[in-house]
Amino acid sequence: MIATDALTGQIKAAPRALPADNFSNGFYGQDILSVKQFNRDNLNYIYRVADEMRSLVKRFGKANLLDGKILANLFYEPSTRTSSSFQAAMLRLGGRCISINEVRYSSVTKGESLPDTIRTMESYCDLTVLRHPEKGAAELAARYARKPLINAGDGVGEHPTQALLDIYTIEDDLGRLDGLKVAMMGDLKYGRTVHSLTRLLSLYNTQFYFVSPEQLQMPDEILDEVRASGHPFEVLRDVQPIIGEIDVLYVTRVQKERFEDPTEYEKLKDFYIVDQALMAQAKADMILMHPLPRVYEIAMEVDDDPRAAYFRQMENGMYIRMALLAAVLGKA
Ligand code: NCD
Repeated sequence: MIATDALTGQIKAAPRALPADNFSNGFYGQDILSVKQFNRDNLNYIYRVADEMRSLVKRFGKANLLDGKILANLFYEPSTRTSSSFQAAMLRLGGRCISINEVRYSSVTKGESLPDTIRTMESYCDLTVLRHPEKGAAELAARYARKPLINAGDGVGEHPTQALLDIYTIEDDLGRLDGLKVAMMGDLKYGRTVHSLTRLLSLYNTQFYFVSPEQLQMPDEILDEVRASGHPFEVLRDVQPIIGEIDVLYVTRVQKERFEDPTEYEKLKDFYIVDQALMAQAKADMILMHPLPRVYEIAMEVDDDPRAAYFRQMENGMYIRMALLAAVLGKA
């Protein structure tokens, strides 16, 4: 466990919006802590760089844009895709990584605080990627860091790079981002990916549907933001009334690790299951998304449906992370 007193300190500043400069579209040397830092212009910039990264990988497999740079991958929570796609992104751009995925083998188990661990890693590396179970941990860490830091998930807070790859996938699959009807279904309370995705989709003309059991409803903080930004939204218990009209169905796993009471998790874990019968009622061009890992919520029989976009999301994650790394380290 890390020393909690380092985490309970007031978080002073909200993440700064990315400055508008003419170099790397404002990303150079910046932290990526929240999707609140993005606007339509700099998102589009990242998406176009990600397009280039995709063709670069397909044609050559690698480039040496980040030759000599080192990334610190610091994960205090389990991860398969986020951690390995950041590593693969760095390696494909010619950089190297130091990964601490097993914090139990690091000095964290000796009681080292998050700020001290960050200071250590950045004295060896050029950029830190941090995943941590506490909401606000990335902002706290960034206050101590002198080098750029990327939030790879802070508890129930945000997961900005996941939302970037989600929206990139929507644009790629549907060819547009405005005028879409987007339903999010599952654990909207603890699922950080839907918190970031809702905020980011609020930059576009989106009709939202939030489908969850009452206990796992989207937090008021996010609903208030959606309300304030003037986007129409509905809170529902069942996807049935809207399944035939939505363009995107984004499903999340019930976040077992966030429950204090395991019996409550057991009650809710298979509240929704997407199967072929449900997909048969959806539009022919609806896409079914999931940040993965999926557990019970999407039946494997759906995987071969061309509308299942989750494996495309997973691959796109590497291109988006390549684009971000290149932009933040200044060579995009
Ligand atoms: C998500 C996460 O860690 O928040 N996974 C991911 O990064 N793709 C979703 C989840 O764990 O359910």
